[in-house]
Amino acid sequence: MKLPFKINNKSKNLELFPNETLLNVLRNNDFTEVKCGCNEGECGSCTVLLDGKPVNSCQVLAMSVQEKEITTVKGIGTLYTPHFLQKSFVEAGADQCGFCSPGMVLASYSLLKENPKPTREEILVALDGNLCRCTGYVKIVDAVEMTAQKLQTNNLEME
Ligand code: FES
Ligand code: FES
Repeated sequence: MKLPFKINNKSKNLELFPNETLLNVLRNNDFTEVKCGCNEGECGSCTVLLDGKPVNSCQVLAMSVQEKEITTVKGIGTLYTPHFLQKSFVEAGADQCGFCSPGMVLASYSLLKENPKPTREEILVALDGNLCRCTGYVKIVDAVEMTAQKLQTNNLEME
């Protein structure tokens, strides 16, 4: 069946089965920027924002979130129009294989929206549910700090 969802500021009809997870539904409807790692709620690679809050989409029944605003990493910025947070990830060398990056970016985005001047400790806590097998995390935390610096220096807000 097809049902309407609100994704990345647009209304979109998605094909789904009633018992499918949000992760499966998104990926089966071409939102392949949402990654599937463990499918067990442990790795954070499937992170999306639901009404601005990060969730593991592999643990959410798609039909339960029809009324919510879903944001994937492409709702923050794209390859051709990257958000300055995404640019910070590149500048800090925080992307290696990139598999964790969509989830890391969304978790970081949510943190910075609520707390534009996080401490390193607060960044680590916010990214606690997102695993990375490549970077050792230091450059990812650097990227979030770099973005916080951009916010302050340029008097910006996360949007
Ligand atoms: Fe959802 Fe790992 S795929 S938490
Ligand atoms: Fe490869 Fe994080 S960059 S898992």
